[in-house]
Amino acid sequence: MKNDCFLKALWRQPTDRTPVWMMRQAGRYLPEYRATRQRAGGFMDLCKNADLACEVTLQPLQRYDLDAAILFSDILTIPDAMGLGLYFTAGEGPMFERTVKNAADIDRLINIDPNQDLQYVMHAVSTIRRELDNRLPLIGFSGSPWTLATYMVEGGGGSKKGFPKAQAMLYKRPDLMHKLLDKLVTAVSDYLHAQVEAGAQALMIFDTWGGLLTPQAYTDFSQNKMAAVVQNLKSSHHGEKVPVVLFTKGGARNLQEFVDSGADAIGLDWTVNLSDVKAKVGDKLALQGNLNPHILLSNPEVIDSEVQKVLASYGQVGRGQGHVFNLGHGITPEVPLENVTALVAAVKKYSPPYH
Ligand code: CP3
Repeated sequence: MKNDCFLKALWRQPTDRTPVWMMRQAGRYLPEYRATRQRAGGFMDLCKNADLACEVTLQPLQRYDLDAAILFSDILTIPDAMGLGLYFTAGEGPMFERTVKNAADIDRLINIDPNQDLQYVMHAVSTIRRELDNRLPLIGFSGSPWTLATYMVEGGGGSKKGFPKAQAMLYKRPDLMHKLLDKLVTAVSDYLHAQVEAGAQALMIFDTWGGLLTPQAYTDFSQNKMAAVVQNLKSSHHGEKVPVVLFTKGGARNLQEFVDSGADAIGLDWTVNLSDVKAKVGDKLALQGNLNPHILLSNPEVIDSEVQKVLASYGQVGRGQGHVFNLGHGITPEVPLENVTALVAAVKKYSPPYH
C-alpha cells in the first residue's frame, strides 16, 4: 500500500508523522456531496448504490490529503435489514417504522446474513477498494450493539431526550435488553467479518450513546458487548489481523476493560486529555482523536494552534507513535472548507517531530 501510516499507527509501529482522517469526512459540509446526494434522491438511495457510495467516499480524499478512506454507509443498515424499516425525515434524523418493545419483537427480528441482506454494503466496499487501488486503507464500520439497540427501541427522536425508552428497558427488563444485545453482537460480528472479506482493512465500532450510561451499566451493556464482537472477529479471521478501533462518545471510562477487550485502538472525544488516557493505557492501545469538531467553526489561525495542542497532549517530542489524529466526533455541515484545509495542513506540519 502506498500510504499505510494509518494502519501502522493502529499497530503502534513507527511512522514519519501522525496520520489524519475525520469522522463523517464524506458529508454535507462538502458541496460535491450535497450534489451527489441530490442526484441519488435520498440518503439511503446513496448508501444503496455502490457507484454513488464509492463516489462520495472518495470526495474528501480528492480535496484533502487524508490518510484513510471510510466506507460511506450508515450504522442503521443493520436494524433496517433486521426488518425495522429505516427512514430519514428532514430535521428529525433517523426513524423506524417498527420498534422493539417486547420479547416477541426481539424474536421477530431477522437473523441477517450480511452477504445477502446487506449485499449493497459489500458491493460498496469492494467497489471502493478497487477505486482506491491501494493508495489508502479503507475503514469498514458498524454501530455498537448498545448504540444500535438505542435506536431500535426508541424508534426516532431519541437522541434529543437521552433515549428514555431504551434506558427504561435496560432497568425494567435487563434480560430482554441482553437478549436484544446478544442478537446484535452476532449481527455486528457477521457484518464486520463480511466487510473484511469484501476488502475493509481496518474496522471501527461507533458507540455514540454508551456515554449515556452509568459506569457499571456501560461495562455490562455496551463495553462487554463490543468486546464480544472483537473476540468473534479474532476467532473468525483465519489468523489475519485487521485492526479494530472502538469509539464511545463520552466513553473514556473503564479503560482497563478496553485494554482487556482485545481492541487495537480507542477513539476519544474532546472531553479528555489524550495524555491522561495514555498515562493509563500505556502502549497497549493506539489512541484516535480528539479535536473538538466545533473548533472547525472558528478560523485557520485558531485551528492551527488547537491542532498543536492535541498533538502535544498525545506525546512529547519523539513519542507520537500510536496516535491517529481525528475529531472527537463527526464534522458538522456548517464547517467552512478552508478550515478543514487548515486542520490537515497543521497535522502534516507539526506532527513529524513527534516521530
Ligand atoms: O464518516 C464517514 O464519512 C462515513 C459515513 C458515516 C455516516 N454515518 C454518513 C451519514 C458514518 C460512519 C455514520 C455513522 C453513524 N450514523 C453514527 C455513528 C457516528 C456518530 O456520528 O456518532 C450514527 C449515530 C448514525 C445515525 C445517523 N445517520 C444520524 C444521527 C444521522 C444524521 C441525521 C441528520 O439529518 O442529521 C445519519 C445520516 C447520515 N449518515 C448523514 C451522513 C453523511 C447525513 C445524511 C444526509 O446526507 O442527509
